[in-house]
Formats: sequence, C-alpha cells, structure tokens
Amino acid sequence: MKLTVVTGNLTQRREPIVLGVAESGGLPPWAGGWSPAVRRAVGQLLSAKRFQGKLNETFLLPLGSQWLILVGVGKKEELTLDRLRQAAATAARRALSARFEKFARGLLPIAGATPEQSAQAAAEGTLLGLYRYDELKNPSPPEKKNQIKEVVMVVGAAKDAASARKGIRQGELIAGAVCWTRDMVNRPSNRLTPTAMAAEAKAAARRFGFRCQVLDPVDMKRLGMNAVLAVARGSKEPARFIVLEYKGPGARQKRPIVWLGKGITFDSGGISIKPADKMEQMKYDMSGGAAVLGALRAVAALKLSVHVVGLVPATENLPGGSAQKPGDVIRAYGGRTIEVINTDAEGRLVLSDALGYAKRFKPEAMVDLATLTGACVVALGYHAMGLMGTNGKLIDQVKQAASRSGERAWELPLWAEYGEAIRSDVADVKNVGDGKAGTITAGYFLKEFAGETPWVHLDIAGVAWTDSDKGYLNKGATGVGVRLLVELARQWKGLR
Ligand code: BES
Ligand code: MN
Ligand code: ZN
Repeated sequence: MKLTVVTGNLTQRREPIVLGVAESGGLPPWAGGWSPAVRRAVGQLLSAKRFQGKLNETFLLPLGSQWLILVGVGKKEELTLDRLRQAAATAARRALSARFEKFARGLLPIAGATPEQSAQAAAEGTLLGLYRYDELKNPSPPEKKNQIKEVVMVVGAAKDAASARKGIRQGELIAGAVCWTRDMVNRPSNRLTPTAMAAEAKAAARRFGFRCQVLDPVDMKRLGMNAVLAVARGSKEPARFIVLEYKGPGARQKRPIVWLGKGITFDSGGISIKPADKMEQMKYDMSGGAAVLGALRAVAALKLSVHVVGLVPATENLPGGSAQKPGDVIRAYGGRTIEVINTDAEGRLVLSDALGYAKRFKPEAMVDLATLTGACVVALGYHAMGLMGTNGKLIDQVKQAASRSGERAWELPLWAEYGEAIRSDVADVKNVGDGKAGTITAGYFLKEFAGETPWVHLDIAGVAWTDSDKGYLNKGATGVGVRLLVELARQWKGLR
C-alpha cells in the first residue's frame, strides 16, 4: 500500500474521503469549504444523532457519486496524537470493509504537535489498523484480501507537504517494525521456536544494519546462564540467547541503553503446569522479546543517533522428563542462587541471567519488557502496563515515552518491605512471593539482579494481547513496547 501526499483541496477529490468529526454538536470546523449538499447531509446526521463524532465511531455517507467516510475523533479539546492514530485506523478499516481501493484524507491539526508528528501518527494508525495475521491461511478469498492500494493525504500548504512526507516515512518504518513484532507474537510456538526467533533477529540485523549474535546452549553453559538453561530443560527445543547491538551515526553516549525482553516462546508452566483453558494464548509469552527485536529494527531503520543493546533470552517452558522441579536451586549468571518454588514463574528466571549479562555492556540504563505476571492484569486490566524501577530520572523518561507513544504505563512501588516475600531459606532468593502484590514481588526479584544499574521493568502481561479489534489494535498481538522504546531512544537525555 502506498501512502502519498499531495498539495491541494480535499473538497476537490473524487475518491472516497475520510473526514474526522469531533464530538461537539453542530457542524465540524472543516464543513465551511464543502458544498451546501455535503453540509446539509452531515448537519442532518449530527442533529438526528445518527452520528455523534464519538472516538472511533464511523458513518459511511453516500453523496451522489462521492463517498464520505466520517470518523469520530472524540471531544475536540481531548484530541491527542494517539486518538488521531486510533481514528486513522478505524477509518482505514471502514474503507476496507467498504471495499474501497483508495481514499483521500486531510491532516488534522493537533494542539502541541507538529504536522510531521500528526502525519506520522496517521500513517501508523492506517498501517497498524489494516494489519492482519494471515500468513497461515490458504489464499484468502478476494473480498477478505487487503484491497486498499493507496491513501492520499491532502494538505493545503506546500510547506506542510514536506513535513507530512517526512512524518509518513517515519510512521511507515515504525509501523513496519510493529507489524513484524506482531507477526512473531501471533506465530504459533511450533513455528516460532527460540531458534526461529533468533533467525528472525539475524535476518532483520542484516537488512536494517545492526549487530546480532546468537548464543546456543553450549555458549550459555560456558557463561553460566544456568537460569535460562534450567527453564529450557523441560523442552527438546534448544534455548537461544539473542544479543543485538545498534550504534547510530554520531551516537554520543559513552555507554549503551540495554533493552531486555522475556522470550518464552511457549509457557505451559512447566512442572507447575497451567490449566488447559486459554493455554494456547501462552505463545504470546515472548512479547517482550519480540518488542525488543522490533524496537532495535525501528531505531536502526530510522538511523537514530543512539547506542542500544538488546538482549532476549528465548526458550520454551515445558514439563519434560528432565524439567526443573519445585524446590530446585539454580545459580544464575553472576553467581546468585535462586530457589525455584514454582516453575511457572520462569520469566523472572530467564531475565535474571539477562540482567546479569547486561552488566558486561556497562549500561547507562536498562529497561526490560516482560509478560511477567497474571497479577498485573488483575491490577491494571488491559489498559496499562505496570512500571517499576530504581532510578527517578529513568522512570520519568520512560513515563514520558509512554505518554508520547500512547502505550500507557503506570508505576507501582518497590519498597523494601516487598522484598521480604522472596527471601528463601536455602538460597539467596526464591522465585515467588506470598501470593500478594504478585506484580511487585516479581519486579522486586528482578531488582535484585539489576543491582546498582539504573533500571526500569515494564510488565506487559495485560497489554501484549487483545481479544478484539479496537483503534489501531487488532485481535491478537498488539506489538506493544516497540513504539514506547522508539520514543525513549528518540528523546534520550541521559541520566545526569
Ligand atoms: N507468562 C506468565 C504470566 C502471564 C499470565 C502473562 C497471564 C499473561 C497472561 C508467567 O510466566 C506466569 O506464569 N506467572 C505466574 C507467576 C506465579 C507462579 C507467581 C502467574 O502470574 O500466575
Ligand atoms: Mn509462567
Ligand atoms: Zn511466562
């Protein structure tokens, strides 16, 4: 699909036109330039409340030989880049279901945002909204195929056209990375094994120009990554530890930011096995790792001037005959010992090795993403990831990146008292708490391995998967974390 920009007047276009309408009552501000017939038709819809402009509401309005796709953007004073991104997705989906091959749209001004940023958000929304995971379906019937070949953005002033093109280009690169991440997460675990995930990383590294090294179980044994290996014992699929590095042109940082992502390609729970209901969804337990891969791809494609390292411990968690057992004690990378009370708390195990290994890069900061706890879904539902960390400046920058990207994060405390729940009688720590504040005790466990290095943990268990289409999210993997990390890298200010 092509996203193009032309300078001109939207009212003169012949193809279907998407119009954003704010929820206000009365005619929207764009109505002035349109013919009396258009103004009357839209005015009637609004006064009859058949269309109100609520966020993501749509109305397909035929006018002679012209089609209008009205899309609600919510209250005008509440319009943000993220709402624009959502409305762009909803409109594109409506155009798709109407089987239009092409449509035109304008560029809504957003308070506090540049035309470039608005164009980027619109491009992201359009591409993410039209995403489908269909690689395993036999050739889909023509009516289900993506028929949209071109979206024309019409801007009034020539100077805005250049900004819009720049924004769209960036939106395309970012959406491309998010869709790649979604594909990996949606892909079943018999196809996206740890080995396959590492192969994806290698291919992307070659294509987008960053470094990729893949450690196998022999390397991991030599290094002492016993926590990843302990989780991998129950499976015949060999574990992989993926190491990525991108150093952008003119990157002035002396020390890298390290991004870490949980890469459990399937989580059965292991010997502490999960119930069968919804277990198939546990293919998404590598969402954090896939987000790290996607973010590395995006910052490399955008050629950002940053130095980033990505670490993804990838393995299955299965209950095979050699599986680790409750009560086992393992020695993680760096020497600390862990008593494994519950083999289903495996994410924190693989991340303990990764956090230890990260120190090799002398990071300025570490940010990990993990579908770590069901408790996070209880605490925050599907609307925000849990955020915990040890450094105020890093926490602030991650929060800002979260709000700029629309990938919401909400902070939870890591007070020392929570650490008491993970003290072990026989080892340095145990891998589960006392059943209360499960997201925090998991975060606290990671903090023990992060040590003095500034660190933030993002629990994405509630937001990495969605059961229905909404805005730019489609049923299945959301690709959450990629855009947040890209924003963090774009605006990285250092910690001093
Ligand atoms: N991958 C799960 C967490 C999860 C649950 C993610 C539901 C998404 C949806 C994780 O490995 C896990 O099993 N955590 C346990 C921890 C418990 C044993 C302390 C959990 O949340 O139940
Ligand atoms: Mn688990
Ligand atoms: Zn898990």
